[in-house]
Amino acid sequence: MRQSLIVANWKMNGSIQNNQSLLNSFKQNLASVQHADVAVCPSFVYLQQVSDLLKGTVMTWGGQDLSQQNNGAFTGEVSANMLRDFGCKYVIVGHSERRCLYGESDQLVADKFAKAQSAGLIPILCVGELLEQREAGETENVVKRQLAAVINLQGLASLGNSVIAYEPVWAIGTGKTATPQEAQDVHAFIRRQVGEVAEKLQILYGGSVKGSNAAELFAMPDIDGGLIGGASLKADDFLTICQAAR
Ligand code: PGA
Repeated sequence: MRQSLIVANWKMNGSIQNNQSLLNSFKQNLASVQHADVAVCPSFVYLQQVSDLLKGTVMTWGGQDLSQQNNGAFTGEVSANMLRDFGCKYVIVGHSERRCLYGESDQLVADKFAKAQSAGLIPILCVGELLEQREAGETENVVKRQLAAVINLQGLASLGNSVIAYEPVWAIGTGKTATPQEAQDVHAFIRRQVGEVAEKLQILYGGSVKGSNAAELFAMPDIDGGLIGGASLKADDFLTICQAAR
C-alpha cells in the first residue's frame, strides 16, 4: 500500500498574517487526518515562518521551484541547499506555470530534478498536457516525453525517490477537473512507464481538486493523493481534502 500524500501549493499567495491563521486553524484539526502525509509549499520568503509553525507536527514543507545551479551569480534564484537549510523535504519541479509562463524546457526541469535529489530533497515532478494536446489525442505522448527527459538524465531508479504529480494544464485553476476516470487512465499510464519503481511511486493528481471532488478522485487505484492550489488556501477545504485521502 502506498501512503497518500497531499501537498499544498500556495503559489504566489499568502501573507505573514494569513499564513499564520491558515496553518493554526489547520493544525487544530490535524488529528482528524488519518490516511495522508501533508506538506505545504509556500513562497520562498515564507519558508522560515512555515517551518516555525509546522516544526514538531507531522507536517512537512517544501519549495515551489529551485535553481538548477549550485550557487553563485544567479540573481533571484534559490538553490537546493538553501531549501535544505530551511528544512524542506520536498520541492516542486516543472509545474506547468513554470513550463508555460517561464519557458522551462523538459531538459531544464530534468536538471532541476537532478539537483534536488543530489541535495537530498524529494522532487515533486509535475507533468501534464495542454487542452489542445488532449483534444489532439496527444496526452500520453506529452507525459511520456516529460518523464523521458528525467529518466534519460537520471535513470529510471531515480523516480523511486520522487513524487509525480499529474496535472492536466486545462484543469489548473480553471475549476474544470479531470473526471476520476480521465485522471486514473493517465495515472495508470504513468505507472506503466516506470518499471521497477511502479509499485512504490506516489502519483498525485492536481487541477481544481476541492473538498467536493477529492474523495472520488482519491478512490481511484492509481491516484495516491493531490497537489492542491486554490483550495489549499482555505483551511476548511484543505482539511476536507486531506480527510478524503484513503
Ligand atoms: P489548482 O492548482 O488546485 O488551483 O487547480 C493546482 C496546481 O497548480 O498545483
